[in-house]
Amino acid sequence: VTAPDLAGRHVVVSAGGTREPLDPVRYLGNRSSGKQGYALAKAAAARGARVTLVEANTGLPDPAGVDVVHVGTAVQLREAVLKAAADADAVVMAAAVADFRPAAYATGKIKKTDDGGAPTVELVRNPDILAEIAADRALPGQVVVGFAAETDDVLANGRAKLARKGCDLLVVNEVGERKTFGSEENEAVVLAADGTETPVPYGPKEALAETVWDLVLPRLREPSA
Ligand code: C5P
Repeated sequence: VTAPDLAGRHVVVSAGGTREPLDPVRYLGNRSSGKQGYALAKAAAARGARVTLVEANTGLPDPAGVDVVHVGTAVQLREAVLKAAADADAVVMAAAVADFRPAAYATGKIKKTDDGGAPTVELVRNPDILAEIAADRALPGQVVVGFAAETDDVLANGRAKLARKGCDLLVVNEVGERKTFGSEENEAVVLAADGTETPVPYGPKEALAETVWDLVLPRLREPSA
């Protein structure tokens, strides 16, 4: 039996990967499965929280007892997360948000031309949702958690990213073969703004989810009376 230590709390979790449309049939996407975000949402619900899960393109079934908002693009994900975050005690950004989107959307399918040429796709930056939420917290003491996949200098890059994003906790994964995308397992270090580092050994995404909530818990603001 899980202790209901998140009872009375509202938490927001984003999961999956955004898709940025080029035309009605094509998009720029990424390989995020959404499994880590779903594990976080389910764990928080089991611990008594009211959970809003903002889901992008996972194809996973809605977990029982969780409010699920389905989105496609980074701009839609931003909108849904900001709305849900208005009264949230904690926001966990587990989604892989596209850093760029096509500058233009073609309302008709982009066609091949007879001259053998290929189009150039111009990209523009997407908003950094995590940095925005951390910089402009909807409630004082709202706990903001980010994820980062790094391939080298994991801790140094993670520390720099934690500072740059301004979040309270950053879950840093080393990505490489066998690790992370689409798998059931994860290995991570959770970096905190107060300088602590919590290594999480290679194991199920459910275990990492519990560790994240264990670290969020003491950082939550006093519940309003
Ligand atoms: O900068 P990077 O993409 O490595 O940061 C990853 C973290 O930032 C994740 O928590 C992701 O959800 C979040 N992010 C975001 N908006 C973006 C890009 C990433 O919120 N445009």
